[in-house]
Amino acid sequence: MKKILVTGGLGFIGSHTVVALQNAKFDVVIIDNLSNTTIDVLDNITSITGIKPEYHNIDLRNKKDVQQFFETKKVDGIIHFAAYKAVGESVEKPLDYYENNIGSLIYLLQEMNQRGLDNFIFSSSCTVYGQADELPITENAPIKPAESPYGNTKQIGEEIINESCNAYGLNAIALRYFNPIGGHDSVKIGELPLGVPQNLIPFITQTAAGIRKELSVFGDDYPTTDGTAVRDYIHVVDLAKAHIAALQRLINKKNNKNFEYFNVGTGTGSSVLEVITAFEKVSGKKLNYKIVGRRAGDITAAYADTTIANKELQWKTEKSLEEALDSAWKWQLKH
Ligand code: WQD
Repeated sequence: MKKILVTGGLGFIGSHTVVALQNAKFDVVIIDNLSNTTIDVLDNITSITGIKPEYHNIDLRNKKDVQQFFETKKVDGIIHFAAYKAVGESVEKPLDYYENNIGSLIYLLQEMNQRGLDNFIFSSSCTVYGQADELPITENAPIKPAESPYGNTKQIGEEIINESCNAYGLNAIALRYFNPIGGHDSVKIGELPLGVPQNLIPFITQTAAGIRKELSVFGDDYPTTDGTAVRDYIHVVDLAKAHIAALQRLINKKNNKNFEYFNVGTGTGSSVLEVITAFEKVSGKKLNYKIVGRRAGDITAAYADTTIANKELQWKTEKSLEEALDSAWKWQLKH
């Protein structure tokens, strides 16, 4: 049984990927410092699959602790989620973002190189494209100057990985996520935003649950069908499966180059108002919202061209926007 290290494995996307890995008969080891999640996610994963993953509470910014971990652990692959990911917060605390997101990446890659480990999957983001000139967005779209330190850590992260693959012969894949939403069918794991949600879907579900008074729609003067911004919302369970596909590509040595990257989305764009309408349909709730000004740093539209990911990863999304919103609502109702 192949052993896979999942950093940030108790987080939103990480926990769904751990479940998918265990379902695909991988032996999972999790590293998570609980900075953006809670330890009960470990039991929730176990209750879904019946297998308790090995777990280590390690802060990947601590080089000695990372070295010590690998002294006793030999893994067949690493899926690296552990990072800070709040766009707005990254503008206020850039050094925290560079120290955590870049530092932890460097220490992991150093250990892989020094110990002959291979097969690295990196959690990247469509944010590297900024506002793409053409839609849907292909992997050939130019990388635009980052709009935030968070986005910059993803761009720099990809460059570090690319150069490390070239220099040390590592094999890696970056998955450029569009907008991950929803939760597991079991309603045992989902998105756990701590504090006021930054992202649209948790804010919608908390408004529908009466936790928030009303949703502010950030702008309806964009050049889109209804004036609100367009994104590609992908069910987190489909996103998790893309990681298994990417990992198997590397383990089976099917990759064409040392470093590859793929756009992971549904290929369909949905506006904020379309998401609200879909949510009202699946929840049966009338959503309380008002239109306000645009949010700084937001782009008009982003949705993926999934041709290459579908072909090279032999993977495509299976769940609809409605299914994703329904799973997000069921998760909210449980909490
Ligand atoms: C979606 C749309 C908002 C909240 C960011 C990161 C990306 C990834 C996902 C980490 C936008 C609108 C939102 C609200 C609103 N993060 N909105 N009212 O900004 O597309 O992507 O999160 O990996 O890297 O950039 O996602 O959910 O914040 O916003 O109108 O209260 O919803 O303007 O159009 P975003 P989001």
